[in-house]
Amino acid sequence: MKTTTTLLVTATIITIASPVLAADSGNAENGKAVYMRDGCWECHTSVGMGAVTGSKLAPNPIPLEGIIAELRHPRQAMPQYSPAVISDAEIADIHAYLATIPEGPKAKDIPILDKIGK
Ligand code: HEC
Repeated sequence: MKTTTTLLVTATIITIASPVLAADSGNAENGKAVYMRDGCWECHTSVGMGAVTGSKLAPNPIPLEGIIAELRHPRQAMPQYSPAVISDAEIADIHAYLATIPEGPKAKDIPILDKIGK
């Protein structure tokens, strides 16, 4: 009985976690290519740092489900991207690309910025 319960719990966890695992296995290289091809960079910059034209997307991107939701049903100024234009798998690749973008240096580690206010 205990073994059956353990197996059942393990199977449930694997089932629940698999979309997340699939998201993490997106192809970052292809994601960058799609991000450039479909013009995300025009509003969000090539490294997703954001600008007046679009929000910050990286580092630490929002979960894949959030990116898919925004692309399929944008809240305001975002253009809408249908699955015919960009597939869920390609969005997973974009998510993987955004996840590879490192944190920028802190202002205190940039000498000219560290002098401000001193
Ligand atoms: C024409 C400019 C424009 C383009 C092109 C564009 N976006 Fe956006 N995006 C925005 C703006 C503006 C927002 C802020 C929310 C809104 O207005 O819908 C946004 C919001 C987002 C958000 C939600 C961010 C958050 O934290 O809530 C995501 C994710 C996103 N964009 C991803 C993308 C991706 C991926 C692409 C390319 C496939 C793309 N965007 C192309 C302008 C753009």
